[in-house]
Amino acid sequence: MAVQRTLSIIKPDAVGKNVIGDIIRRFEENGLSVIATRMSHLSAAEAGRFYEVHAERPFYKDLCAFMSSGPILAMVLEGKNAVALNRQLMGATNPKEAEAGTIRADHADSIDANAVHGSDSAENAAIEINFFFANLDLHSRG
Ligand code: CMP
Repeated sequence: MAVQRTLSIIKPDAVGKNVIGDIIRRFEENGLSVIATRMSHLSAAEAGRFYEVHAERPFYKDLCAFMSSGPILAMVLEGKNAVALNRQLMGATNPKEAEAGTIRADHADSIDANAVHGSDSAENAAIEINFFFANLDLHSRG
């Protein structure tokens, strides 16, 4: 499987719980490298632009309110099969369905406060990385 890049966001709930280090440790221990990071506090409008694909969904307004409720840590992960591997490490979107030992099983409280976001495809990863980072911000480990 080819080396890929994916966008990960540590959401306001997990930043608030002070578990940034635990989450990044899981990525690194599973072969993913952090090649860019950025801490941001999005406005609701900025969160809305990031999650535009969900604009018609009933949870969109709550999602934007939650994602702008505190600081987040956006990062780019690089490694073999990074998109799927990150999703495996995160666990199911709804923490009630997340497999034991995943980030969401261990740190998420609800489907909204679910600790982390990860791109769902290589195509969306490129779009999402571009939302937060310029090319010069990415420091590939090659
Ligand atoms: P995330 O991976 O960041 O992508 C969209 C987010 O919407 C998702 O995680 C959840 O936090 C949130 N969300 C709230 N309700 C739902 C739902 N019913 N289905 C999918 N995502 C939801």
